[in-house]
Amino acid sequence: MIIAVDGPTASGKGTIAKALAKHFGLPHLDTGLLYRAVGYQVSLYDGDPDDPAEALAATRFADELLGHPELRSEATGGLASRVSVHPGVRKALLERQQAFAGQPGGAVLDGRDIGTVIAPNADVKLFVTASVEARAQRRWQEMRDRGESHTLLEIEEDLRRRDERDRNRTAAPLVVPDDAYVLDTTALDKDASIAAAIDAVLEATGQKPCP
Ligand code: DC
Repeated sequence: MIIAVDGPTASGKGTIAKALAKHFGLPHLDTGLLYRAVGYQVSLYDGDPDDPAEALAATRFADELLGHPELRSEATGGLASRVSVHPGVRKALLERQQAFAGQPGGAVLDGRDIGTVIAPNADVKLFVTASVEARAQRRWQEMRDRGESHTLLEIEEDLRRRDERDRNRTAAPLVVPDDAYVLDTTALDKDASIAAAIDAVLEATGQKPCP
């Protein structure tokens, strides 16, 4: 079973994808980490993330950086969003993601284009979303717990910029796949979001009757 989980930054899609993987006993790939590794690699050499050739060259090192703690920072998230607009970068990371999705037994992948580009034939497509205010509040809390200090307003502005870039790029923009189940987590806490996602997968795969 392949489960595709897409959605904007800080929607809760990562937490949900991880929980689904655990619940259904499937391997999980956070595809945003690949783009974050590319963005971080560019920054290590003071490169320009908006330059397609520099960003493409950095894809070769993405795997080596996957466990690096700096990948989770807000700054790296912004760089990831910038390198991810380049079609060459997306193409370079495509095969790796499709190989992961094609494992015997299936997998859970989360990102922006899983249901549309990476695994268009996924058994279940979830699109996880939440209001920008709710997402900013969660990200602010996360940052605070990690000791990064940003104001709520800074975070909200950054999220809006990234949403805009991710949704309006030409290559594999963030869109709701036609056949996706949309899960709005604005009013849901972590446990309720996970429970709703599990229910959606069970319904989509005929393991639970629709209400
Ligand atoms: O999910 P995230 O915040 O870690 O992703 C960081 C950036 O990477 C996001 O702003 C856009 C890009 N990305 C992408 O273009 N396609 C994906 N499948 C995953 C992430």
